[in-house]
Amino acid sequence: MEIQSFVGYTGNIKWESPSNIALVKYWGKYGRQYPRNASISFTLNNAKSITTCNYEVLQKSQEEIQLDFTFEGKQNDAFANKIKKFFASINDVFPWIHQVKFVIESKNTFPHSTGIASSASAMSALALCLCSIHEKLGYEGHDFFQLASTVSRLGSGSASRSVYPGLALWGEHAEINGSSNDYAIPYGDKVADVFKNYHDDILIVSKTEKSVSSTAGHALMESNPYSQSRYKSANENLSALLKSMAEGNLTDFIDLVEREALTLHAQMMCSTPSFILMEPNTLKMIKRIQSFRAETKVPVCFTLDAGPNIHLLYPHEYKDQVNTLISERLISLTENGAIIKDLVGQGPKNEAI
Ligand code: DP6
Repeated sequence: MEIQSFVGYTGNIKWESPSNIALVKYWGKYGRQYPRNASISFTLNNAKSITTCNYEVLQKSQEEIQLDFTFEGKQNDAFANKIKKFFASINDVFPWIHQVKFVIESKNTFPHSTGIASSASAMSALALCLCSIHEKLGYEGHDFFQLASTVSRLGSGSASRSVYPGLALWGEHAEINGSSNDYAIPYGDKVADVFKNYHDDILIVSKTEKSVSSTAGHALMESNPYSQSRYKSANENLSALLKSMAEGNLTDFIDLVEREALTLHAQMMCSTPSFILMEPNTLKMIKRIQSFRAETKVPVCFTLDAGPNIHLLYPHEYKDQVNTLISERLISLTENGAIIKDLVGQGPKNEAI
């Protein structure tokens, strides 16, 4: 492709991309952001990053990536440097990346200080912008979302799953046709209807930034004595979960999702050095959710990401009962009543400006 014919070309791209919540967790990676086991997540609707990218094709390739970056309206050099490094690392995918000047603005629909991981939405929104520019510069013949998922993965593993509506599955799995370590694949149309508008209410137990980053946590899996059996059981849990979701079997779904969340945190506790990201109120909430479910038979369950906050998962038709659970038994355990109400969403949205 002759980039020189685009010198002086300018354009604007805007993508909104959602966060996601894993049901079977990615925890452990190798090489160029390859997962040690397959994972699957619900794509969310409300928690998203909105990223605008202005770009201009320069006369010639520059040694350093040319980038201005503002986050939530403020220049942010720390993020800018991270993004520059990331962009430089993917010049094999986008051979033009050193010859473009970027002015990027990004914001999240959820507050930054809630302890909610924003890397999935932020990295997928950036990746989508880059893929749109790639097309504008005449590169064709690839599957747009597959490339976006690949580039998202290179930014943050879990981001690979944010580019599809409903559900997305990432990582090679012997029983799943088309599954790959390079990119996620859409999975939303292979599950019972009950999962198509599932709710995820995120109860914020603590807004404090977590003590161990995901990247450091993944690295500790390399020396974790239980890692091999974890990777095996994650892939087995995924097979069982997909079966339960195809059948709409909520009992099995709940059992698997809760065990996955607790196993993730168990891996943290038996890493060296070990660490605990749950807080006392996380455990209190777990107990209260489980006893509410036993008493009422309402099929509500929890999952956790790499932090103390509880994701409350439940079918749409139980929203009134779950609101009662939240207001009577859970809200008092959150940090100042902080809660983000979300549900399964339709994936990224693009706007030409
Ligand atoms: C616990 O995707 O944040 O949320 O690839 O290093 O950026 P990096 O890690 P990240 O890890 C997410 C871990 C998790 C589980 C999951 O989303 O599958």
